[in-house]
Amino acid sequence: MLRRLHPHQPESFAFTPANLAWAKGQISKYPEGRQASAIIPLLWRAQEQEGWLSRPAIEHVADMLGMAYIRALEVATFYFMFQLQPVGSVAHIQICGTTSCMICGAEDLVAVCKELIAKTPHTLSEDGKFSWEEVECLGACANAPMAQIGKDYYEDLTPAGLRKLIARFSTGEVPVPGSEIGRYAAEPAGGLTSLTEFEAGRKPYNASAQLAVDLGDTVKRIDGTEVPLTTPWLGKVAKPAKAPKAAPKTSEKAASKPAATKTPKA
Ligand code: FES
Repeated sequence: MLRRLHPHQPESFAFTPANLAWAKGQISKYPEGRQASAIIPLLWRAQEQEGWLSRPAIEHVADMLGMAYIRALEVATFYFMFQLQPVGSVAHIQICGTTSCMICGAEDLVAVCKELIAKTPHTLSEDGKFSWEEVECLGACANAPMAQIGKDYYEDLTPAGLRKLIARFSTGEVPVPGSEIGRYAAEPAGGLTSLTEFEAGRKPYNASAQLAVDLGDTVKRIDGTEVPLTTPWLGKVAKPAKAPKAAPKTSEKAASKPAATKTPKA
């Protein structure tokens, strides 16, 4: 698949103040002269902020890192996780189409996207709220078929369930991510068969879904104010590298002795 920059580009790009502070924190992780190592996190944050990666965003990040534009373009066009075209203003829906999900009905989910969003992937719906694409395995194969919507996974999906999700997102709701059939995590569909002692007293949602519930959102564009900025590595004095351990000294006396040899037993 050819990955090219979108023909319609915005005039400019700038990080929000909080995202800029975060980006500078990321750059400070790397030693002088190695700032280009921050390219992927910075491009990713630019995408989290805008929903997709425009040419001004890629060039802005390249300027921040002192890189030639072509180097940043190479990264942005190589990785499929970077969206090079505008995505839906509410959500970009990524349907997993790999083996488990395909066997369990991913093609029916794609059909729903084609019907409700757009006939072709990476195309905005008429109201501009949604876009979709088929992606490779997202690592939730036990709960197939599934889709990533925004930052979260919606699993054990049925076509009817996906329709409902799209309708709810469309009206501004943010449905709780996780399994459509009520699985807590990736246990058997019939319930836990081991470690059952951990079932009682657990939180209502697994850690990932709970985080989404706590944030109250799964599709929010990230402006950097969501969590406090922490850069614990700043201000720390770098410790000198440990000298390699010296080889154990051998006394001259011992050194002059011939090495003991064992006589093999008969
Ligand atoms: S095959 Fe769909 S998540 Fe792995």
